[in-house]
Amino acid sequence: MDKVRGLFNSFCGNLFLLLVLVLVRPNLAVAGSVVKFLPGFEGPLPFELETGYIGVGESEDVQFFYYFVKSESNPQTDPLLIWLTGGPGCSSIRGLASGIGPVKFQRVLYDGTLPKLMTNPYSWTKVASMIFLDSPAGTGFSYARTAKASQSTDLQASEHNYEFLRKLIDNINPEHVLKPTCPDVSRKPNNLFSGRRSTVETFYKKFEELDAATGEKLIDYWANDMSVQEALHVGKALWVGCNHSLPYTRDAGSVVPYHANLSTKGYRSLIYSGDYDMISPYLGTEEWIRSLNYPIIDDWRQWIHQGQVAGYTRTYANKMTFATGAGHVAPYEKPAECRSMFGRWISYQPL
Ligand SMILES: *[C@@H]1O[C@H](CO)[C@@H](O)[C@H](O)[C@H]1NC(C)=O
Ligand SMILES: *[C@@H]1O[C@H](CO)[C@@H](O)[C@H](O)[C@H]1NC(C)=O
Repeated sequence: MDKVRGLFNSFCGNLFLLLVLVLVRPNLAVAGSVVKFLPGFEGPLPFELETGYIGVGESEDVQFFYYFVKSESNPQTDPLLIWLTGGPGCSSIRGLASGIGPVKFQRVLYDGTLPKLMTNPYSWTKVASMIFLDSPAGTGFSYARTAKASQSTDLQASEHNYEFLRKLIDNINPEHVLKPTCPDVSRKPNNLFSGRRSTVETFYKKFEELDAATGEKLIDYWANDMSVQEALHVGKALWVGCNHSLPYTRDAGSVVPYHANLSTKGYRSLIYSGDYDMISPYLGTEEWIRSLNYPIIDDWRQWIHQGQVAGYTRTYANKMTFATGAGHVAPYEKPAECRSMFGRWISYQPL
């Protein structure tokens, strides 16, 4: 686990709403509870799921919650992929049930009953074992046992500039600039949740129509249901999609030197940005990759899924592949395309 923790520490600290993939060797021994049934999913799960907590840090005061899904192909030889949803503070259920994981929500209007799950034919767990990790503490079902006061942060002046700029762009959907904008119910203040489920439901009523439009917010109902939390062996009552109240200090600075270190040591990387994503625009990604001064091996071209253009790709020296396509949460929007991309990449094929 130490190697894995090291990777988490390198990658967790400095991402703003990025989805991070870390491939590690499949020798991780995970000890948790096997989950055979999930509320909302009919019948026994057709894949192997384990959930649990792993204590990290001083006296293991930080309890990280994870979902481990065994590869449905060949778990002995398939890679192990760790999924961290960014933020920081966004829950990994967004990976588990939003396009890359083995289940997804049935897109129906919320009727007050538990949202229903179905299998995801494009799950990346068909080709890799996956750990979906709620990290850092305070994210999803992960928590800290002690209150660690850490005053955040510097950069407040630039935050204000940023806020100002945002108010110029208020009516644009930053996750997909071509789609209509809608409120992010995950960004609600935590005190709305003090009465747990009934309060959650009252609050959500307002968003029912929007939920029907995207289906995404069904996760919020599901994850706050008592039966779900019992099935998952969760030791924390409240769940929010993204916890925006983390006492979090960004002290790692730029991650570009980490990329440089890892790639010059021979690690392959696949870096993905949405074409229509204004949160992590591909132009910025292209810019920092260019700053590494790696020669281009295979210049811009389309990458294709079932005869259609799914995005664009460019390959650099040091086994670094850059790909674009879709919006911010690409696997949710384009699950089949993203699975193809990932499948090609882990099997050493060009995209
Ligand atoms: C958000 O994170 C803080 C700090 O870890 C924690 O105290 C709080 O309970 C978290 N909120 C939720 C809803 O998980
Ligand atoms: C990169 O690697 C060098 C040499 O191994 C090391 O001194 C440096 O701290 C590393 N930088 C980062 C950001 O990991």
